[in-house]
Amino acid sequence: MRVYVLNGPNLGRLGTRQVDVYGMTSYADLVSMCVETGQELGLDVVVRQTDAEHELLGWLHEAADEGAAVVLNPAAWSHYSIAVRDACAMLRAPLVEVHISNIHAREEFRHHSVVSAVATGVICGLGVDGYRLALRHLASRAAVEGRSA
Ligand code: DQA
Repeated sequence: MRVYVLNGPNLGRLGTRQVDVYGMTSYADLVSMCVETGQELGLDVVVRQTDAEHELLGWLHEAADEGAAVVLNPAAWSHYSIAVRDACAMLRAPLVEVHISNIHAREEFRHHSVVSAVATGVICGLGVDGYRLALRHLASRAAVEGRSA
């Protein structure tokens, strides 16, 4: 089963960006961690990051067309992009929204995500481990639903 792990703006800077908030794991390490977790779970994991909103929209359209599950960290777009939310609403397989930090314990403008209402579930505040947990959930969900994982 193909799962897209999609990351929004500035997440390519992980490891050097506000390490007190986002931790020391680099984006390259995050990619390896997701791919390795996918291998353990029998998932074909494709990890991508972009700072260009139209590119993320294209990837979400691709996932919708393929009926693929998505783990999405929309980053700052979480808080205001109706376009990202609308693209997420087109997905046919589960969508897990992930935030590395606990957005509810931070500035007020981060407390609301416009994506959450169209996500299957949300993980936030568990660091990069949230991505692993999201993949684990998608694999067990696919097993329960009888899809090949
Ligand atoms: C984030 C939280 C967002 O508020 C922020 O804009 C990000 C990362 C997180 O993973 O904690 O870029 O989505």
